[in-house]
Amino acid sequence: MMQSFGGPWTLLKLEILEKYLNFYINALKNKKFKLCYIDAFAGSGNVDVKGIGTIPGSAVRVIDYPFDKYIFIEKDIEYAKRLEEMINKKNSKKNVEIKIGDCNRLLETSNSISWYQNYWRGIIFLDPYAMNLNWASLEAIAQTKAFDIWYLFPLCKRQRKVRKNGSAN
Ligand SMILES: C[S@@+](CC[C@H](N)C(=O)[O-])C[C@H]1O[C@@H](n2cnc3c(N)ncnc32)[C@H](O)[C@@H]1O
Repeated sequence: MMQSFGGPWTLLKLEILEKYLNFYINALKNKKFKLCYIDAFAGSGNVDVKGIGTIPGSAVRVIDYPFDKYIFIEKDIEYAKRLEEMINKKNSKKNVEIKIGDCNRLLETSNSISWYQNYWRGIIFLDPYAMNLNWASLEAIAQTKAFDIWYLFPLCKRQRKVRKNGSAN
């Protein structure tokens, strides 16, 4: 089954991500850092966008950018397998890790590695469908001081949780 979601904004989202990847790589290319990209809601590699058709998703696009390490996390086993197949087809011989499971488990311990001191810098792309990201994950990433975070916050899902009196649980 093809992973389908989104609309015209999905194209815009991926275009903005790629523009940022370009800026980021250019800005750091002559520095001594090793670069890591983490896609914590990686998906299946392809997205079937309603009214547009099948397009490459974030994880498949980023492989074309020169990072030293790529970590893709996906909870759904079938999606993760499909993503692995797509990345293998690219045969890029890059340092890619695909982890299956809840990204919070990994992100909440991301500060246990001395990324900053070991000259790692990177980008963490967070693109959940809903409120799947724990606050503790964001706190731990911030403590690494090594990663730029792109978090596509699902505001509509949050609004659904707000009570009529404006309070949120
Ligand atoms: C909006 S899609 C991501 C699309 C992807 N960025 C792309 O461009 O192809 C969200 C993905 O996150 C996965 N997911 C949901 N909760 C998760 C979690 N806690 N940890 C890891 N992956 C999760 C879903 O299975 C889904 O594939």
